[in-house]
Formats: sequence, C-alpha cells, structure tokens
Amino acid sequence: MSVSEELLDKAVNYLHQGKLVAFPTETVYGLGADASNAQALELLYQVKGRPLEHPVIVHISGVKQLTHWAVDIPSDAYELAKAFWPGPLTMVLHRQKHVLDQVTGGQDTVALRVPNHPVTMALLKKFGGGLAAPSANKFGRLSPTTAQDVVAELGNEVSLVLDGGPCDVGIESTIVDLTGTQLKILRPGILTASDLNLTLSSMKAGNIAGNETDVKRIRVPGSLARHYSPVTPVKLVAPDVLQKESEQLCVAGKSVAVLALNAPACHRKGCHWITASSNPAIYAHDLYANLRLLDQYANEVILVEIPPKNESWQAILNRLQRASGLE
Ligand code: TXA
Ligand code: MG
Repeated sequence: MSVSEELLDKAVNYLHQGKLVAFPTETVYGLGADASNAQALELLYQVKGRPLEHPVIVHISGVKQLTHWAVDIPSDAYELAKAFWPGPLTMVLHRQKHVLDQVTGGQDTVALRVPNHPVTMALLKKFGGGLAAPSANKFGRLSPTTAQDVVAELGNEVSLVLDGGPCDVGIESTIVDLTGTQLKILRPGILTASDLNLTLSSMKAGNIAGNETDVKRIRVPGSLARHYSPVTPVKLVAPDVLQKESEQLCVAGKSVAVLALNAPACHRKGCHWITASSNPAIYAHDLYANLRLLDQYANEVILVEIPPKNESWQAILNRLQRASGLE
C-alpha cells in the first residue's frame, strides 16, 4: 500500500509544526513526533499517556544517520545494521549530547531503528530528521497493527494516520543494548538471539532470562506488569487443561474467549474460540488482532493456550505473559 506525495508533504508539515503523525512499520504502527522538538515530544507523552521518564525509539532512514544520534558505536552495531536494517531491530547506544531527555528518559543512551516499510521510509527521507515513536496505542494497551486500530485508539488526538496496510510482523521490534561488553536483549522480538549471533563476530547475544535484572534496571515500559494488555484479563493455560477450564466457565454462564493452538474443544454457547497458527511468524502476525477481537467477545477472561517454550516462540510468550500480568 502506498500514499500520495501530497499526503506525505502534509505529514512532513505537521511534523515540522510539532504535531503527531502515526505511521506504519513492519512491526506495529508508531505514533511519531519530531525527535528534536521538545514540545512535540511533550505532546507525544501526553497523548500516549506515558510517564515522562520512559524513553522512546528514534526512527531513522538509514545507518548513515547513526552518528548523528549516537557515540562510541561498536563495530557490532554496524554488523547488525548491515544484516537487519531496515528491519525489526532496535539498538540501544550511547547518545550524542544533543539528544533530548524527553527521548532518552534522561538516560545516557538512545534507542535507534530503521523501520522496513515503504511509506515510512518515504516519510523519513522527506522529513530528514529522526522520528521519536512509541507504538501508537495508549500506554499499557495492545499495539495497533492496522491504521484502523490507531484511529480507534487515538481518534483525533493524532493529526494524521498514514495507512500502510496491516503490519507484516505484528509484534514490536527486538531491542538490543550494545553499550556494554556483552550484547543484551532488552525485549525479545521476531529476531532471536540466534539470528543476531549468526551475524556477530565479537559480541554475543546473551539469553534474555539471564538479563532479567538488567531489563528491570533500565526503564523499559514493556517490562511493567500488564503491558500490551487487552481490557479483559488474560489467563495463560496449559494445553491439557484448556478444554476443562473453558467448559467450566461456560457452564457457570460466563462468556469466555479462547486463543488456542488446537481446534475448538469447547462447543458451548458463549465460548469464542480462535485457533491460531502453529507457525510462530503467523501467530505473531495475528496476535494483537486476535486479542482485540477476543476482547470484544469476552467479559470474564481470555484463556490463552501456553505456546511452546522454544526460541522461536520466546517473543510471543513474553507478550502473552505481560498481557496476563505474569511479568
Ligand atoms: O517495533 C517497535 O519497536 C515499535 C515501532 C513503532 O517501531 N515501537 C515500540 O515502541 O514498540 P515502544 O515505545 O512501545 O517501546 C519502545 C521500547 C520501550 O520498552 C522503551 O523503554 C525502550 O524501547 N527504549 C527506548 N529507549 C531506550 C533506551 N535508551 N534504553 C533502553 N530501552 C529503551
Ligand atoms: Mg508499546
């Protein structure tokens, strides 16, 4: 899907005026503001409903812009950029002095990413600067994966929503911290530690679980309990008890929604059962849309079948655990 030059010009004008423009990326939709305009960033935090000390990702058009935002860039960052940019990878690096506190949350690091979407690439090139953008949802809610989701979530609080069609990946980027001697994954995503390690010659991506304390120490909104949540409570359930739990709730007269990997095992009235793909890339692609849909059906609980525990499901498990408030 593409947008007209006129619309891109309008978006760029809005951004220069300090207004907010939502844009598509391959992961989720972003709520963009001029990363070098403090007032625009204040508006961004206000609309997002996000605490001021939480940092945002700066979206740039290419690796050439890295040195404008970051210092002490290790060679690994260039290796990763070469392999994965544009793409669903965010790198945390030491910041240049001019980078605003509203972007970094007052930390001495900055998160940078080159998104892989033709509409946003065209926008970034026309705009010239960096676009600070969290996911285009209210703080703590599900990330939007279509332009319609953004409109439903933010309405006229955003000046313009660029429609680039549904997002390919469907969950947020992998975030890696490159400021230490060991590369740390701060947020798992579709690119796994194994994917990153394949391209790296010096640093090695540590295991996410082993870095839990670091994740908590650095302020990452995604690490707060019940982030990425629908309104209805989410409960993670083992495959072998899913049928029993859903039937019990239905018998008790509750309306139940189930996100499963297996075919419907409860056929009672009031049970809304979605069988998601057993391919993790497709599961991730559909995840937020499925949760949004189930959120409309269920008034009691959304039961989610616990996915497999291997690396290709790690980012999905992470988002599900957060949705259920387990983490
Ligand atoms: O796929 C994505 O990453 C999407 C699209 C729009 O690019 N963006 C996104 O942004 O998920 P947001 O704000 O919802 O999540 C950004 C994450 C937060 O958890 C934030 O704490 C972390 O990036 N972050 C930003 N700057 C950081 C920094 N300097 N150090 C550590 N974490 C940082
Ligand atoms: Mg977010």
